[in-house]
Amino acid sequence: MRVLMCPWTFPKVEWSINPHMNLANQPDPEKARLEWHMLLDCYLQLGIKVELLAQAPDLYDMVYTANAGWGKKGVFLLSNFKHKERKKETPHYKQWFMSHGFRVIKAKGCFEGQGDLITTNSAYLLGYGTRTSPHFITELKQVFSFGKPIISLELIDPAFYHLDTCLFSWKPMNIIMYYPGAFSDEALLKLKQLPLTRIEVTREEALAFVCNSVYHEKTALLGGASERLLELFRNMGCLTTTISSTEDVATLFTYLKRDRDTSMVISLPVPTELMKGGGSYRCCSLFLD
Ligand code: ARG
Repeated sequence: MRVLMCPWTFPKVEWSINPHMNLANQPDPEKARLEWHMLLDCYLQLGIKVELLAQAPDLYDMVYTANAGWGKKGVFLLSNFKHKERKKETPHYKQWFMSHGFRVIKAKGCFEGQGDLITTNSAYLLGYGTRTSPHFITELKQVFSFGKPIISLELIDPAFYHLDTCLFSWKPMNIIMYYPGAFSDEALLKLKQLPLTRIEVTREEALAFVCNSVYHEKTALLGGASERLLELFRNMGCLTTTISSTEDVATLFTYLKRDRDTSMVISLPVPTELMKGGGSYRCCSLFLD
């Protein structure tokens, strides 16, 4: 497993392109650095290979690499960002993917990468309506041959403007965790038909960006999970543990007896600084394979 991250060298809210971004509420540079490093440390401890792409000084949203695009089998479809503020990130991603052996294609319609295209065991889920275009499904099918259906889901709440802000798929567990209020009725019906376990989160839980979480095999790293959610995962047979600071990461992994079959939820702190840009841990991670 490999993930592309962008060290958060220039934490700043310079524009507001989602309801969470407020120019009067700037990230604290030291807290921002620790928050980002905690995620990096977790990935390294989990044995994930982390690739790094330097942040351009004036591209303040570049830390959210999940939006760079979406790839499959050596082909990388570069996003076509909705907002001009993020369009300038594309040449940086293009350069990185080309120099790492990918065949790079640029999306024609509006598309925001892994933020809006999520994989489950039975289908791919494409969020549209807030960022990615409603018609993008056609273009996607022309670029990739998907071995399973792509289901498009309309997002209706500006606070949950990317699919990964309101839906988390933990594939090896065949679980999705999602906030129903972010979806149209039709999208909810489509979600109900998927053959998997569904966990619904409340608006309050969703606003802590718990759906913007990540996993590696049977270990999930949940940001800002409520006690209710942790209890729910315990009832499903998962072990749960909590990390509150970067120092905890090394300690935890030293003592943790992890084996591939144990499902585990590691609860990470609410990422207050990343949230000022409207994202959390998932947004900072572009999974490469
Ligand atoms: N400020 C960024 C934007 O509005 C945040 C992106 C969050 N990324 C994500 N995958 N949800 O585009």
